[in-house]
Amino acid sequence: MAVGSMIRTATQRLKGGVNQALGALGYQLVRTETLGGLSGFFEPAPPSAAGVESRPAAVQPRRLTLLPAANAAPAMCTAHAPKFDPQKTPSQLADKIVEFQQNGVTVISTNPEKAATFRETESFDRDVSNRHSAWDWAGNSVAPYTKDLQTGIPSAALLDYLHGLFSGGDFDSFFRGVLGCPAQVANVRLVRSLPHETAGVGPQEWHSDGCPAGVIRGVLYLCDVDTQTGPFQYRDAGGKEHTVLGKTGDLLVFDATRLMHRGSPPSHKTRSAIDLVFMPRMPGEDMKIMVVGMNHWPADPFFVKLPKERAADQEAVAGRATSLY
Ligand SMILES: [Fe+2]
Repeated sequence: MAVGSMIRTATQRLKGGVNQALGALGYQLVRTETLGGLSGFFEPAPPSAAGVESRPAAVQPRRLTLLPAANAAPAMCTAHAPKFDPQKTPSQLADKIVEFQQNGVTVISTNPEKAATFRETESFDRDVSNRHSAWDWAGNSVAPYTKDLQTGIPSAALLDYLHGLFSGGDFDSFFRGVLGCPAQVANVRLVRSLPHETAGVGPQEWHSDGCPAGVIRGVLYLCDVDTQTGPFQYRDAGGKEHTVLGKTGDLLVFDATRLMHRGSPPSHKTRSAIDLVFMPRMPGEDMKIMVVGMNHWPADPFFVKLPKERAADQEAVAGRATSLY
């Protein structure tokens, strides 16, 4: 083998190894000009002025940009999953699938009367402490980090409603369309954001979630959300800020790994919502709700070890419903 060929082979192997290691960490290296071509932001060098003798351009060093890897469902979920085919099974949510694919976020209307009822009947009686010892690798402490957020464990009636909603044909198509396979609910909890004037902390600060591959997020509003109720905000690929208002019953679905986002701090009104984590489903699995009421989500839900709940204080747990569904 010629020396040049050996060097090229070694370089390819090195590149492959680096990309594999980065991929395992959820990143990929992309050439800046490639990224610019895809997003339309790369400005090629201006052509030489007419009449001026052009010289061969100096070779520019290749610049690389580190990006989060595509948030795609694992092949073990998608390889054998029947794909969404709008020709065979027209879906009411086909336009939402396209919107999610293009922007990483979409809003789907669900039953507003049901949502308004759950706003009144559900109990937001918990704080944001991280009580699940098995999944606290990246979590906050048992002591709550703010009093502006209240959480709660959904009732059995709400869980049944959500199970029926996400098992239905429209959502089955939706998740096949956006994930390439059916989905299940990895975690669901109630979250109430109280109005306050101080800067937001936790989910009210700009962040991306760094979810495991294929995991996407949902927020089902139990109230109307206007500019005073702390609407969802995200930044698109160009860094432009968008604010998403909502009505009672609206389900916001978004890619929390792809988009920088926050639930902005409510200035005057309380925002009540159901916080959802959707994850790809393995072949042959039924739609299910894995865990309820958890203030963090699995490190890797595909190799799941169900968490135990630890007490917030010594007397807390007697008689309390379990948060594992
Ligand atoms: Fe988030």
